[in-house]
Amino acid sequence: MRSRLPLLLAVSAGLSICLQAQNVPDAVTNPMAGNRAAIDAGKQLYTSVCQACHGPEARGDRGPALTGSLRHGSSDNEIFRNVRGGIQGTQMPPFAQFTSDQIWQVMAYLRSLSGAPAPDLTPGDPVAGRAAFDGKGGCRTCHQTDLAGVGLRTAQQLRDAIVNPGQQPVVTLKTKDGHEYRGLRKNDDPFSIQILDTSGQLRSFMKSQLATLSIDPKSIMPSDYGQRLTSTEIQNVVAYLATLTTPAIPTLTSGLSYDRIRTASAEPQNWLTYWGDYAGHHYSSLSQINWMNVRNLRARWATQMPGDGTLESTPLVVDGVMYTSGPVGQVYALDAATGRQIWKYQRTQKQVNPFEANRFNRGVAVLDGRVFFGTLDAALVALDARTGALLWEVQVADTMLGYSLTSAPLALKDKIVTGISGGEYGIIGFLEAFDPATGKKLWHVNSIPVPGEPGNDTWSGDSWKHGSGGMWLTGSYDAELNTLYWAVGNPGPDINGDVRKGDNLYTCSVLALDANTGKIKWHYQFTPHDTRDWDATEDLVLVDRMWHGQSRKLLIQANRNGNFYVLDRLNGDFLAAAPYIRTNWVKGWDSTGKPITIPAADANAAGVWVYPSLIGGSNFQAPSYSPLTGWLYFTYHDGGQRFAIGPAPFEPGKQFQGEGGGSDAGPPAGDAPESQGIAAFDPETMKVMWKFEVKEASLTAGVLATGGGVVFASSHEGNLIALDAKTGKALWHFSAGGNVAGSPISYAINGKQYIAVSTAQVLFSFALPE
Ligand code: HEC
Ligand code: HEC
Repeated sequence: MRSRLPLLLAVSAGLSICLQAQNVPDAVTNPMAGNRAAIDAGKQLYTSVCQACHGPEARGDRGPALTGSLRHGSSDNEIFRNVRGGIQGTQMPPFAQFTSDQIWQVMAYLRSLSGAPAPDLTPGDPVAGRAAFDGKGGCRTCHQTDLAGVGLRTAQQLRDAIVNPGQQPVVTLKTKDGHEYRGLRKNDDPFSIQILDTSGQLRSFMKSQLATLSIDPKSIMPSDYGQRLTSTEIQNVVAYLATLTTPAIPTLTSGLSYDRIRTASAEPQNWLTYWGDYAGHHYSSLSQINWMNVRNLRARWATQMPGDGTLESTPLVVDGVMYTSGPVGQVYALDAATGRQIWKYQRTQKQVNPFEANRFNRGVAVLDGRVFFGTLDAALVALDARTGALLWEVQVADTMLGYSLTSAPLALKDKIVTGISGGEYGIIGFLEAFDPATGKKLWHVNSIPVPGEPGNDTWSGDSWKHGSGGMWLTGSYDAELNTLYWAVGNPGPDINGDVRKGDNLYTCSVLALDANTGKIKWHYQFTPHDTRDWDATEDLVLVDRMWHGQSRKLLIQANRNGNFYVLDRLNGDFLAAAPYIRTNWVKGWDSTGKPITIPAADANAAGVWVYPSLIGGSNFQAPSYSPLTGWLYFTYHDGGQRFAIGPAPFEPGKQFQGEGGGSDAGPPAGDAPESQGIAAFDPETMKVMWKFEVKEASLTAGVLATGGGVVFASSHEGNLIALDAKTGKALWHFSAGGNVAGSPISYAINGKQYIAVSTAQVLFSFALPE
């Protein structure tokens, strides 16, 4: 489990689920459509409740007209949800007090106003539809292959796309330096415009830099098919489109190639993968913003993402476009220069586990014109990076059993790798690889060895069956060795270790895996038989450097258990470990690197005070490795906690923690109070070089070291802080006005360096003044 925070969230999530349960329509289409009595009853309800905002006959007032095609969905199902649940972040309130019948009545009334009752979605004839597509409709003249994949949408959405086409005006523009572009308008305001050009590239322009600009407000997609085609012809075309379920993958050649991700440090103007590079450095070599001028840093833009919960996502930047995610199925493409939205994808969670906690999403992966992300109901989804259109979706695991996907997938050459979350539900953790083009599963590896596999005997009895070991944080990759390094989380139950005697492999470990097959090459267990929820899911930083007089391939990590580790990443050999905060559970390490633990620091029934606490000395927030100093920078928390065990009955899909009350004993008298902040650690001397203390460290917010000698960090109360990388002295700060739960990144556009970070519900980007 990631921290204490989610336990509280689990409670509130539980409440919101109760409300959401009522959100589900009891039928998918209106059972009262066209029924005269229902229309009359609906009219009465409408006049007394909705009219104040939506105007007489739903023609629109403070709220929009409800007669034509609707922005938040026009199907019966979607309107039902929007009325019953309201539309988060807008003035449209929920009407949870309405019975289902009442909502269907209002809808019957609304449809009667449109003149067109419920759209006719009777299945058509795909063969006749294809003929109409090629012939009478003339659709093929514009759509050769680019409608491939639309069949993944609902019949209602397809019908809308034909009868009420979206308004994507055609833009022709010329820049002052003589370049001409043509494309579809994605967004604009008085200052900038964002287009999808004819080559499939998303581009943004400042209007002040344009010599000419013409926007043809009408889409080239004809808007009169509702009249030109008969309703049977439309049904048939919809039926034909519904067969186009295979996306036109080969056409997605533009965009981000694997080779570019592999050499990400060669293009610091971009941020191409979750950790900035495969090595997990989370470092930017950009140096325009430096330790001397950082005090002039200004917010350049902010993008509000209200209503969806706390943002934890680390945005990616690819050629001027920022891709980022919200917590519950939202993916955004933004113009990284202005923050303006290019597209937004919103996926509705198909299943909600009532015991779901950790409603977060940490980001997306981009590869070859596709955007990949995981969902709370444990699906892996691929979108078209140009438009946000759905390409494919595969179910990775069953969320009703506690599985979910919260971390950013990792894009390799020909694989999308994703690890599973759910370590507090007694799952069996795993890592899987998928074909980026089709979503086909390529390999699977468990983090808990099943009988017959080496390591199964580190679990007493059948306890491995609920061994947990989530693999919920994005891993690192060494392309030369073709080895993936992926961290494993806590054992299940988290606290009660009495029911799972043994070392409990591979929980709280790092696994080195063959990227082609998922086969485990070696492992190192940081915390054997953990009883304090010390997931090893912290960034695994791969560094090639001189170490103790030798040039080495190292893996370094500031582990949640309070120690800093140096391993040889060729074979997993233990090279060094040392605490960076107070610990009282380990005496040292034997010659094989196994910790010599202090059994009294295992959680027990009475309760025992242990350093560090459950949230750990550090957590999953991004650290940053600077090649300039050779130090790792990270957020630390120096404090202890009482750990007491309780019963751990296993029930599928429910939290499985085994945490008890114990006595009320506090810290031993005379112990220094807890402290927290940002630390710089030197892996050569194994010493903390400096610490910058804050009042309350953010347990989720990472740091970013840059080529300008600055370390960007944040604190829980909402301050973004710039520190001198050498001394830890504060150089600048900015109040973001809310908890920061994301990690900063840096990128550049037209030579201007930006620092971006997701805060509570707002994404900020900073730069120096002109
Ligand atoms: C307090 C004002 C208010 C009341 C009362 C209200 N609405 Fe709304 N409604 C809104 C606003 C504002 C929006 C637009 C939300 C947005 O920003 O997208 C909206 C949006 C909607 C939408 C989605 C429209 C779209 O374009 O997708 C539907 C459907 C809807 N309302 C139905 C109803 C019904 C039915 C009732 C009565 C039971 C009702 N509303 C009562 C303010 C209201
Ligand atoms: C003159 C060119 C043209 C013709 C003819 C045309 N379309 Fe389109 N269509 C477009 C353009 C351009 C778009 C892009 C979106 C927009 O502007 O709304 C589009 C969008 C679409 C979409 C939505 C695609 C998406 O990814 O969201 C569908 C579905 C579609 N068209 C189907 C049809 C069908 C079916 C016909 C024939 C009955 C047809 N189109 C005829 C130009 C055309």
